[in-house]
Amino acid sequence: MQTRRLGRSDLEVPVICFGCWAIAGGVWWGEQDEQDAIDAIHEAIDLGLNFFDTAEGYGAGASEELLGRGLRGVRDRAIVATKASPNHHSPEALKQACEDSLRRLDTDWIDLYQLHWPNREVPFEDTWAAMEDLIEEGKVRVGGVSNWGPGDLDEILRAGHPDVDQVSYSLLFRAIEYEIKPKCIEEDVSVLCYSPLMQGLLAGKFASPDDVPEGRARSRHFSKERPGTRHGEEGAERETFDAISAIGEIADEIGEEMTRVAIAWLIAQPGVGSVITGIRNPDQARDNAAAADLTLPSDVIDELRQVTEPLKAKLGPNADMWEGESRIR
Ligand SMILES: NC(=O)c1ccc[n+]([C@@H]2O[C@H](COP(=O)([O-])OP(=O)(O)OC[C@H]3O[C@@H](n4cnc5c(N)ncnc54)[C@H](OP(=O)(O)O)[C@@H]3O)[C@@H](O)[C@H]2O)c1
Repeated sequence: MQTRRLGRSDLEVPVICFGCWAIAGGVWWGEQDEQDAIDAIHEAIDLGLNFFDTAEGYGAGASEELLGRGLRGVRDRAIVATKASPNHHSPEALKQACEDSLRRLDTDWIDLYQLHWPNREVPFEDTWAAMEDLIEEGKVRVGGVSNWGPGDLDEILRAGHPDVDQVSYSLLFRAIEYEIKPKCIEEDVSVLCYSPLMQGLLAGKFASPDDVPEGRARSRHFSKERPGTRHGEEGAERETFDAISAIGEIADEIGEEMTRVAIAWLIAQPGVGSVITGIRNPDQARDNAAAADLTLPSDVIDELRQVTEPLKAKLGPNADMWEGESRIR
């Protein structure tokens, strides 16, 4: 599989990453068959999709533990990324969180350690100094951030150089194009795209907003009337489903699956290091890995951009998928 180097580091990763949030199951994702997840991990490694993203926060450690079990005996062939929750950003807490993640992942090192959301109560330079200690000690290879906006990036860049910013980016959520992606390109920070299928919306599973399960209808695309939303906004349900139909038509015209088209479009965007697709079973691993071989013609890339412009305009530059008052600054 095609690989890209992250930021200024020497870490080369495949253009597609296996997102491990959904395999934790739970309230947001529903039941997960554990063997399916382990088989998916093995299948992915065989396909060269050997880059895995998890977090201490996914299922309160359950996702890290499951990934650790899946990688038993094949850890050397995998690249593991995890994240420290914002309440663990003081130097002592970060070091303890790293130890806890290493234990759950059953490994001696983390390839990419990310600060999951900014914690502005702790000076970024203190957190980053602890990250650099972890790198020095060989527990972490490369450090990064997630959900950092241009202001926070400016501040942390005074302390050091995170090699990635993991943010939400998909055809249905292009907010980072306003300010965050240009900033990342300028500063050599690779963009890792999360929720590239907009949590299944771009798999064409749902014909209307009412079909979307509660846990997945919490984003700013959906009306504030839907249970579980926190954004207080009217949403953009019509624009979202118009965009899904238009993307589906383009995929049909070129004879491709919409999921693969959505992933391939992101891979083609400047600044993108890797696309983190949530995967729950071996079929999804195979399907999504195949997107790495799909090169979209430039007119199709442009057409996909055009049909998603109205949605981009409606949702605006707030890169926070869930909150009206952005936590990403
Ligand atoms: N840093 C952050 O704050 C943050 C936030 C969100 C996510 N992430 C990371 O990004 C990863 C991906 O994001 P995500 O899980 O939110 O959303 P996603 O990748 O947009 O969507 C994942 C869902 O899409 C469906 N899917 C995937 N491949 C498919 C295929 N080939 N055919 C049909 N359906 C398919 C599955 O739905 P079913 O469940 O219905 O099978 C899967 O659960 C996460 O696992 C996590 O690692 C990070």
